Amino acid sequence: MDKNVSMEITPKAKAFIEKEEIYGAHNYHPLPVVLSRGEGIYVWDVDGKRYFDFLSAYSAVNQGHCHPKIVEALTSQASTLCLTSRAFYNDTLGPYEEFMHNLFGYDKLLPMNSGAEAVETALKLARRWGYDKKGIAENEAMIVGCEGNFHGRTITIVSLSTDSDSYGGFGPFTPGLIKIPYNNPDALEEVLKSHGHKIAAFLVEPIQGEAGVFVPDDGYLKKCYDLCKEYNVLFVADEVQTGIARTGKMLCCDHEGIRPDMVILGKAISGGVLPVSAVLADDDIMLNIKPGEHGSTFGGFPLACKVAMAALKVVVDEKLAEKAEQLGQFFRREMASIKSPFVEKIRGKGLLNAIVIKPHNGREAWDVCETMAEKGLIAKPTHKHIIRFAPPLIIKENELMEAIGIIKESLKSLE
Ligand SMILES: Cc1ncc(COP(=O)(O)O)c(C=O)c1O
Repeated sequence: MDKNVSMEITPKAKAFIEKEEIYGAHNYHPLPVVLSRGEGIYVWDVDGKRYFDFLSAYSAVNQGHCHPKIVEALTSQASTLCLTSRAFYNDTLGPYEEFMHNLFGYDKLLPMNSGAEAVETALKLARRWGYDKKGIAENEAMIVGCEGNFHGRTITIVSLSTDSDSYGGFGPFTPGLIKIPYNNPDALEEVLKSHGHKIAAFLVEPIQGEAGVFVPDDGYLKKCYDLCKEYNVLFVADEVQTGIARTGKMLCCDHEGIRPDMVILGKAISGGVLPVSAVLADDDIMLNIKPGEHGSTFGGFPLACKVAMAALKVVVDEKLAEKAEQLGQFFRREMASIKSPFVEKIRGKGLLNAIVIKPHNGREAWDVCETMAEKGLIAKPTHKHIIRFAPPLIIKENELMEAIGIIKESLKSLE
């Protein structure tokens, strides 16, 4: 690795890294830490070293690693019934759908597995609603998305991306997509004015996570929501990363008191135990898709249903949204007090935060992450100069304080 700070890699760790290098596709660039165990806010590497987990698997592990109640739901269902496919009914999917209706207040849920699949599902639902309900002419429906977005990795989703690492070399792209600047309601209004009759949906992340935790101005989402209502366009919130209490509310859109027409959920629905995702919508949207027109072999499998209910019960019972709100403010206050030539900006909401790193002495965000890892905290740069900090939401104030100490020390040691 041709970086300035080279982490010490033990022979045991090196052997695992080499196996991935030799036998795995090279579609990720991990920090050279090889993990073998997790519990709560901590993970341990193959040599027994403990780290604060400040990525939480991109906000999938909001409830902490191997939460006993979620693991109990997993293991008891695993020895009872794992997968039926949707060719038959089972005794877990209906109760899960009812649970989600009671928790989020939408008529219906469509279960999928990965976040990207749920986004694809929402796009299909939006197009179908556009034809069946809005009356858009056949094959003319358009979806508006935002520059800087991250919604996953399928061909259609990367067709909407403005990040050349995501879309470059993967064309031809899906048509019917319009990209407008993020955090700019005027841009949305303009496109709705010019193409509103053909537009089925506006797809938006309430905070752009992968782009570097870009928090839009207060009122942005509400303005966009109101514009969507005015032009009869669906407001679709991708809450895969921001949802499930991460930003201090169950859904990030709750901060602005809006109820999206569709909500896309993934990651922390299962507390990081299984890939579970979902689209929530009311009947007017959901029932346009008929039997045989969409689905997935694993979507809504019994194991997922039981795990998701347990994981969401943990979020509610342990008041993780309230904790994220309170500790997020504490985190940003503490981070703002850091005097370091590396710190250009701190931003975030709840426990989804980032520092924008100003390179200094030839050292950049990657070096800061390697140094933090050496000192016992793992996080990962996103887009070269930004480090996202997203610990499990079960973290306590004194633990957060200790972690902040590691971040401060790491920055200091690189000056
Ligand atoms: C906002 C958002 N949408 C969708 C996805 C894609 O989820 P998955 O990686 O499970 O396909 C991600 C993943 O980071 C995300 O942050």
